[in-house]
Amino acid sequence: MMKDRLSDLVKSLTLVLFITLSFASFAQEIPTDAAAISAGEALFNGNCKSCHRVKQKLVGPALAGVEGRVPSVAWILDWVKNPAKKIATGDEYANKIYNEYNKSQMTAFTAYKDAQILSILAYVKAEAAKPDVAAVPTGSGDVAGGGNAGIPSSYLNAIVGGMILILVLMVVILGLIVSALKKFLNQKELSEDDNQIVNSPYTFSTVTKSSGFIFVVIFIIAAVGFKTTIDGLYSIGVQQDYQPKQPIAFSHKLHAGAYEINCKYCHTGVLKGKQANIPSPNICMNCHTQIKQESPEIQKIYAAIGYDVKTASYSGKQKPIEWVRIHNLPDLAYFNHAQHVNVGAIECQTCHGPIQEMEVVKQYSLLTMGWCIDCHRKTEVNTKDNAYYDKLNELHASAKKSKMKVEDIGGLECAKCHY
Ligand code: HEC
Ligand code: HEC
Ligand code: HEC
Ligand code: HEC
Ligand code: HEC
Ligand code: HEC
Repeated sequence: MMKDRLSDLVKSLTLVLFITLSFASFAQEIPTDAAAISAGEALFNGNCKSCHRVKQKLVGPALAGVEGRVPSVAWILDWVKNPAKKIATGDEYANKIYNEYNKSQMTAFTAYKDAQILSILAYVKAEAAKPDVAAVPTGSGDVAGGGNAGIPSSYLNAIVGGMILILVLMVVILGLIVSALKKFLNQKELSEDDNQIVNSPYTFSTVTKSSGFIFVVIFIIAAVGFKTTIDGLYSIGVQQDYQPKQPIAFSHKLHAGAYEINCKYCHTGVLKGKQANIPSPNICMNCHTQIKQESPEIQKIYAAIGYDVKTASYSGKQKPIEWVRIHNLPDLAYFNHAQHVNVGAIECQTCHGPIQEMEVVKQYSLLTMGWCIDCHRKTEVNTKDNAYYDKLNELHASAKKSKMKVEDIGGLECAKCHY
């Protein structure tokens, strides 16, 4: 009896153990389904791509075939969650690559679930299996910036020129007709009154002295003057295309374009608050402790933070890098990045233009009140997956047929943008 029970217990325990083990090994297998691969792609692009490529060495090793070189898939899971800890435990492989990569510290992804890391590996594996395609550089042609839609101004000039020509011709023809008529009438017997009218001294000087002519001329001059003044006033403080020289020849075309480093990796504030922030040298140093140490431009970063490349030590003497601010609203206006980028899901490029193609950043949009208002009139509110808008959406749908625009949630109220 007792023995039966015992063997039953052993059997069921074995089963449980077996199931657990198979689950554990299942969980550490790299998935191959399309869903995992695409989830992995998003994670890789968002978090790993700044330092890793699949087939190319960057700040860290190329990740293709990584599951074959490291001790085990489980090792990768531990490593990604906390590389520093893995190194500290004295793990042989971890210390080997750490030294190989000049002790640059990989970011820890402590919040990652195993499944997320496995999906990244799935993506890497799928990418690695693809045949090599020659890298095509992203198009560098300048996207037409804020060009005027409608008739090009050269056409307008031609049309105005043509009209003036026609007017001149008409004056000449009318003059010819008048003189022909005069000749004809002078051959006839006319009364004193008629004669005076026909032969009245209708010369150029009588025209220019007439009050009607003087009025028209003064009106035209006043109108042109008024328009120029207004245009001038509107452009005060507007500095589209402003492109100052920066203290370090930092290129967005290289970093954000060719190396596809995510904007948010450097401009860390965009999702959280008002300011996008200019990255601190700290962020540059994630890569430039290793990359291009010899470049005079990179040495300017070292000089600013008092870093000695030879000894990899800091002197403690620091001075700020004086980046020249390009975009600048007057103090009376309030603009918040998180509101637009995070909640509104607007791409940086919508407002800043093709930054990833700019060697030197320039101000792309006007940044006038009209520019803000115009977009608020045209743009639909992004209500997707945002419970905050559920009720509002319902109310809006019951009152209006058109989609909910920013103006419908108060985007045109003075106090929303003015302190
Ligand atoms: C800030 C740069 C940086 C980021 C971001 C980064 N890594 Fe790394 N990674 C490194 C460096 C550098 C190494 C080489 C080891 C060292 O120096 O610590 C490395 C090593 C590795 C290794 C071991 C590779 C091998 O061939 O042995 C794996 C696996 C890895 N990283 C995965 C990831 C994954 C997955 C992500 C994204 C979730 C990621 N890394 C994000 C810098 C980074
Ligand atoms: C490697 C870090 C890095 C990345 C990635 C990066 N930037 Fe920058 N960005 C900078 C630095 C440094 C400056 C200040 C120097 C300058 O103006 O070039 C700057 C300046 C700017 C400015 C002008 C700020 C001002 O003074 O008004 C804008 C706009 C901008 N970045 C947008 C972007 C966008 C959009 C992306 C992504 C396509 C991006 N940045 C990616 C580092 C970065
Ligand atoms: C994620 C990695 C990474 C970060 C972060 C980064 N860079 Fe770079 N940077 C690179 C790479 C890669 C190159 C190209 C090196 C090459 O041409 O071999 C480069 C090149 C440069 C160059 C050109 C050097 C030369 O003489 O050719 C400058 C200047 C530069 N970076 C400045 C900066 C500044 C300033 C920051 C911080 C705001 C920064 N970088 C942040 C990866 C990075
Ligand atoms: C809806 C338009 C809009 C979008 C979208 C937008 N910006 Fe801006 N950005 C602005 C305006 C306006 C300013 C000037 C703000 C000021 O002077 O207070 C600015 C300023 C900046 C600056 C200068 C420094 C600062 O913090 O003010 C940087 C850097 C910047 N933007 C980067 C970005 C990046 C990166 C993204 C995308 C993640 C982005 N912006 C998306 C409109 C936008
Ligand atoms: C590319 C289009 C675009 C431009 C340009 C733009 N905005 Fe917006 N703005 C939006 C969208 C979309 C929202 C709605 C975000 C949301 O869902 O809350 C918004 C919301 C706002 C809000 C909050 C309104 C509310 O009722 O909650 C303020 C304030 C604001 N914008 C200020 C500005 C200012 C100031 C400028 C110009 C410097 C500007 N915006 C330029 C698209 C734009
Ligand atoms: C969507 C945001 C937004 C709204 C809504 C808005 N403004 Fe503005 N306003 C701005 C911005 C941005 C500027 C600065 C533009 C510049 O310097 O050209 C500005 C500038 C101004 C100026 C200064 C003009 C100048 O050229 O310096 C006045 C006055 C003004 N706004 C009044 C108003 C009034 C009144 C309302 C309500 C009817 C209003 N604004 C609504 C964004 C807004």
